Amino acid sequence: ETTVNQQLIDFHEQAAKLYHHILVNTEMGEPALKYLNDRGLSDEIISTYNLGFAPDKRLLLPFFQEKKADFQLLRQSGLFIENQEGQLRDRFSGRVMFPIRNQSGKTIAFSGRVLVKAENSPKYLNSPETDIFNKRKVLFNFDIARAAGRQTGDLVLFEGFMDVIAAYRAGVKNGIASMGTSLTSDQIVAIERITKKLVICYDGDEPGQDATNRAIGLLNDEPNLNLNIVQIPERLDPDEYLKKYGSDKFQKLITGAVETPIGFKIQFLKKNRNLDNESEQLDYINDVLKVLVTLSSPVEQDIYLNQLSSNFHLDKETLKQQLSDLRQTMP
Ligand code: UTP
Ligand code: MN
Ligand code: MN
Ligand code: MN
Ligand code: MN
Repeated sequence: ETTVNQQLIDFHEQAAKLYHHILVNTEMGEPALKYLNDRGLSDEIISTYNLGFAPDKRLLLPFFQEKKADFQLLRQSGLFIENQEGQLRDRFSGRVMFPIRNQSGKTIAFSGRVLVKAENSPKYLNSPETDIFNKRKVLFNFDIARAAGRQTGDLVLFEGFMDVIAAYRAGVKNGIASMGTSLTSDQIVAIERITKKLVICYDGDEPGQDATNRAIGLLNDEPNLNLNIVQIPERLDPDEYLKKYGSDKFQKLITGAVETPIGFKIQFLKKNRNLDNESEQLDYINDVLKVLVTLSSPVEQDIYLNQLSSNFHLDKETLKQQLSDLRQTMP
């Protein structure tokens, strides 16, 4: 006897197969296939990620009705939207489909990307929460990344699906992404089961930097997780960086990540500040010292104090004095 969850997974597996077929074998799928090819995805990578296309019409409903699928289960699957009269219609249409897999590699949800950005609909539309999909627990690509991460000793956290796939294309197969939100505690637990090192590689734009700062804050209380930060130059996102600079540079950028959370913070605190202005400079230095005072390693503190002293032509002893004053005021 198959359980409800097994049947829901089976629906998703079948839907993924159908979406993929539409994308790669039919005329309906041609614009989407061209879109993906234009973004640099080969047929091979499209197959690896089982990408698909949900055409702009009824697809899944007749498909499953033909198979005499249980109506109640279809309602529960998240693959459909129910109208006031209790009728179902496909949730996804006119979208490139990204299957979201569980740890066993089974499809449990989708994210669908519009081909052309429109004002009134989100760029990515995710499946709703269901019995088999809890988006707080799922990480995109985790099944592939965890095997790769056991080899490399780390996982790389990206913002988007296309960034994870770009990384894979460049040979960085230990990439994961949360489902369009900040990391949850469940996801952190899952990561820590695999590795002691996480590389954060969010978009290089301002929202990406803000998200990096938030993620560092979240992971501050995780003594078992070493963090490195990658900042993508020119405000590009990882996928755009790969397209512009190629696989070798991409790989070097990620695998050569050395920036620490503190190093990132020191840069981040410069944001929206005019450091030529004396009082803003003072504010900045104070804020940096407030970060340094939280460091437990004196050696680490010393490294950043040296930097600060040389960057702003300040006497290191004065900085040290201010740091110890700050320490007095700490609880
Ligand atoms: P981005 O806006 O950076 O998109 O959102 P992207 O990943 O670069 O996508 P492309 O390259 O334009 O295709 C980062 C992530 O935030 C989530 C998605 O997971 C996306 O990959 N997101 C974004 C949503 O869930 N919904 C949205 O409408 C937009
Ligand atoms: Mn295929
Ligand atoms: Mn972004
Ligand atoms: Mn992006
Ligand atoms: Mn992108």
